[in-house]
Amino acid sequence: MAHGRWHMARLGLLASFVFPAWADAAKQPEQIHIGIGQLAGEMTVHWSTIQESQSASPGDSVVMYGLSADELTRNSTGISFLFQDYGIELRSFRMHVATMTGLLPNRVYYYIVGGNRTGWSQPLSFKSHPISAGDVQSRLPMSYAVYGDLGDYNGQTLPSLLAEARKGELDMVLHVGDMAYDLDSDNGRNGDAWMQDIQPLAASVPYMVSHGNHEANRHFNHYTQRFRNMPSNSGTITFPEYGNVPNNWWYSWDSGLVHFVTISTEVYFASPLAQMVAEQHEWLEADLGAVDRTKTPWVIVLGHRPLYCSCDADCDSFATVNRMGLKQPDGTFKYGLEELFYKYGVDVFIAGHEHNYERMFDVSPMWDPITPWLSGITTGSTVDPPATTHIITGSAGSVEDHEPFTRPAPKRTAKRLNTYGWSKLTVYNASHIYWQQFQTDSAQPPSTWGQVMDASWLVQHHHGPFALHPRRDQVDNSEGKGLHPLDTSSVDMSFFKTGRRLQMQCKHAGHDQELACSDPSLAKQLVSKGRWQYTKLVDAAKPADFV
Ligand SMILES: [Fe+2]
Repeated sequence: MAHGRWHMARLGLLASFVFPAWADAAKQPEQIHIGIGQLAGEMTVHWSTIQESQSASPGDSVVMYGLSADELTRNSTGISFLFQDYGIELRSFRMHVATMTGLLPNRVYYYIVGGNRTGWSQPLSFKSHPISAGDVQSRLPMSYAVYGDLGDYNGQTLPSLLAEARKGELDMVLHVGDMAYDLDSDNGRNGDAWMQDIQPLAASVPYMVSHGNHEANRHFNHYTQRFRNMPSNSGTITFPEYGNVPNNWWYSWDSGLVHFVTISTEVYFASPLAQMVAEQHEWLEADLGAVDRTKTPWVIVLGHRPLYCSCDADCDSFATVNRMGLKQPDGTFKYGLEELFYKYGVDVFIAGHEHNYERMFDVSPMWDPITPWLSGITTGSTVDPPATTHIITGSAGSVEDHEPFTRPAPKRTAKRLNTYGWSKLTVYNASHIYWQQFQTDSAQPPSTWGQVMDASWLVQHHHGPFALHPRRDQVDNSEGKGLHPLDTSSVDMSFFKTGRRLQMQCKHAGHDQELACSDPSLAKQLVSKGRWQYTKLVDAAKPADFV
């Protein structure tokens, strides 16, 4: 919708309209952040006007934009809604979402948001995304900042991210959950403060998000409403307060040579959400199955909790649930994420949640019932890996500090770090990605700030289902097939102690089942007291000896 005199306004002239004498400057838009739109040539923008409540005017939801900072020749009107915090103060304020359309590819656009009645933001800018294959080729390489678990207090990576964005080195930010610790804390003011703090980054680079356990309060209310501008392509979620709102718990979009998918690992951990596990799984399978790998050869999935990790008990329990799915009454498992990743050839799965950094190699599915955290088979490859590569980058900051590695690194692990930092994924072409981890830890020597602590090429010439990968045989013929969870297989356990060997026959029926051994009390004692070292699991002549 055109807006009369605003249509050809120049910022210099605009200033007199932006801040009329009667306007309350405190009502100006804040917490501005942008996101990739659903359609090519679109960018969405989301902002808040805190002072407006249900009894006040809804404010304005206009974005003006153009290719010059002083010629904002285009505008569009979005929508606003009353956000409700439901903390003890029952705070409510107005949120706005608008979409810029018809953007030319690979151009710097300038924009302001707000309106005549409630004031305008300062001018902001972003670089539009490529549209055609030719646009992509001329834009490459494209870089993506990736991290989880940032927080407002102790958000140690933010200065480094801002510096990188100002240099024009970032095409997108991917925040894989656990944002402000928490968005709803202090009746939502902590969320307001965090979103204000990230605005210099999030208003200039598309800030794409997944939700984590720290967003879970009140049915992920703050996450869902604060990021309504994500390019939802998965239907709606119903809230009693708002009705149907876009589903930003799981959705996907294309960027350059990558098909990105955000998933919710959190729906697996609350029984009222069990139905959503099935809904997400069905949507995810359809989405992954429809990817055109000639257009977007890389498929990268983003979620909060990892499927594999090696630091603590999460790796035995939560990671296993996301990896294998929910146990059914008949003892089988359903809705596991790993099976889909393998079936449709997801190149990389990136998570946070563990407050550390762990880059892994490829991991082919194989369930180890005795030591779940050591499950999986790896070829240790970064060149044409025959399975999904897993990476945890959850060390962006957060009030909860680091999460130390308490166990030896499995074979699948390429690098583990416990300093604060963020990751940068740079797509060079259809076969080469470069991955880096930057150190931003203020407790480390100042000279090391910004250092690259880990870097690796990831090369893949054979995108697509891993069952068809030319290196599949190397996995099948090496340490065992194990491409599906071994839910009901019999296993032999061997315990060793210097100079003596004890063997027992044990059966295992799944990851949350007790091990049934010929001498259960002795087996339990041996394992729990650590007096005997478990060394080997043999399943139908497919040993999985990872340590
Ligand atoms: Fe978390």
